[in-house]
Amino acid sequence: MKNFFSLNDITDIKKSISEIMDLKKGNDYNSQSIKYRGKTIGLIFFNPSLRTRMSTFKASKNLGLETFFVNISENTWSLEFEDGKIMNASNVEHVKDAARVISQYCDIIGVRSFASLKNKKKDLSEHVLKSFIRYSTIPVFNMESSTAHPLQALSDIVTIKETSIKKRPKVLLTWAPHIKPLAHAVPNSFIRAMKKMNFELTISNPEGFDLDKSITEGIVVNNDQCDSFKNVDYVYAKNWCSYQNYGKVNRDYDSWTIDTNKMNLTNNGKFMHCLPIRRNVIATDKVIDHPNSLILKQSENRIYSAQYIIKKLLENE
Ligand code: CP
Repeated sequence: MKNFFSLNDITDIKKSISEIMDLKKGNDYNSQSIKYRGKTIGLIFFNPSLRTRMSTFKASKNLGLETFFVNISENTWSLEFEDGKIMNASNVEHVKDAARVISQYCDIIGVRSFASLKNKKKDLSEHVLKSFIRYSTIPVFNMESSTAHPLQALSDIVTIKETSIKKRPKVLLTWAPHIKPLAHAVPNSFIRAMKKMNFELTISNPEGFDLDKSITEGIVVNNDQCDSFKNVDYVYAKNWCSYQNYGKVNRDYDSWTIDTNKMNLTNNGKFMHCLPIRRNVIATDKVIDHPNSLILKQSENRIYSAQYIIKKLLENE
């Protein structure tokens, strides 16, 4: 693997999940940390993060790497992405130069750059991550881009594999309310992950909040949330803004927040969310703090997913 843009860069997902689970058992830690000692990783953030920042640092440390954290525009110059631009406005440095400079200081870089949720065409073009891939001379991996969060999806699959007694669990991805418009990166990658694993996925969302049809193709979308909870083994909650009416918010807290009554309709279902979660908006405290909640396992598994991807990229496997 030269770069890690999405789950499509992984050829055998089941093998990868099994290798991530092996890494979690601690196999091979010492030999890895000696092998990669002296190498450097650059973690480039255009947006805030708790889990991605810390889990990728921890993964790098497990591998023996030194880490540079770069917060673009906060402790670097602001970047320009347009080719041929006369740079007489606010952006100081072109990505073409920045990416090539960073490539001289690092052996691998991760980039986080969220969707603007204002310009759909630009967001779908993934111009930030693709520019880094285009101009860097070292491997680049996705730490959440406009349309994908594959490290989160790998952790989510591992979490389901660790807790499921069924080979093909029934999984529900349900829309939940939020005060602000949120991107499609997490649900897109989660859907891709469930399809690749051949788990039984359904999606529930309000009318007008269907995701990109090219991603949801073949998946049943149910606009009746309570009906969709019946007998599922896993409930993955996530907010996303409207794709059709791009960036539009729906604040239907009363009827779409996940509560105990809804969880009681499931097959003793496990609750999942990528975090951060707005308590008592996305889901109630009771659901989030219930023993069936897997949110901490998901965030723990972020370490091993990142470790796996960094290792594969350094090995060009
Ligand atoms: N789930 C996730 O990516 O969390 P952060 O935004 O805190 O990195």
